[in-house]
Amino acid sequence: MQYKVTTYSEDETMELAENIESEKFPNMVICLEGDLGSGKTVFAKAFAKSLGIKDNITSPTFNIIKEYDGAEMRLFHMDVYRFADIKQDIGIPEYFNKKGVCIIEWADLIEDILPKNRLDIRIKIVDENTRQFVITPRGNKYEDLCERVL
Ligand SMILES: Nc1ncnc2c1ncn2[C@@H]1O[C@H](COP(=O)(O)OP(=O)(O)OP(=O)(O)O)[C@@H](O)[C@H]1O
Ligand SMILES: [Mg+2]
Repeated sequence: MQYKVTTYSEDETMELAENIESEKFPNMVICLEGDLGSGKTVFAKAFAKSLGIKDNITSPTFNIIKEYDGAEMRLFHMDVYRFADIKQDIGIPEYFNKKGVCIIEWADLIEDILPKNRLDIRIKIVDENTRQFVITPRGNKYEDLCERVL
């Protein structure tokens, strides 16, 4: 099953992230893939805001993983764009069991260590303000979630 959602502005992408956040659960994993400037960080920021995180969410490109305390659960925001440069294991899989939500930008680069159950979101740039989201739920919990909010 695959869901396609088109957004015509940054605000609409934020709304999509908020809708998905409304169905969050501990150890949820959201994998974002898409070109530079497609909207991965916009999605992560809106999700964080909806989780009640007041800190400014910055792109974790140079730290790989940033951790935030939400009202009900933590958010682990990762950007693995530079992951290939890092020769040692930085323990990413540990974060999948810490009871928070993981949002991973450029998740396709670490496909081999991703959990089997997860929400895959591929973002395509259509034009300046238009993005197509192809959302693939992997596992029952994610399928139910998509059925409820998409
Ligand atoms: N429909 C849309 N949804 C999301 N962002 C949009 C949309 N239309 C235009 N934009 C713009 O596209 C840009 C998306 O930037 P963002 O940092 O989220 O990309 P990214 O995918 O995280 O890139 P990177 O790979 O460099 O981290 C923002 O400048 C945003 O304003
Ligand atoms: Mg980004």
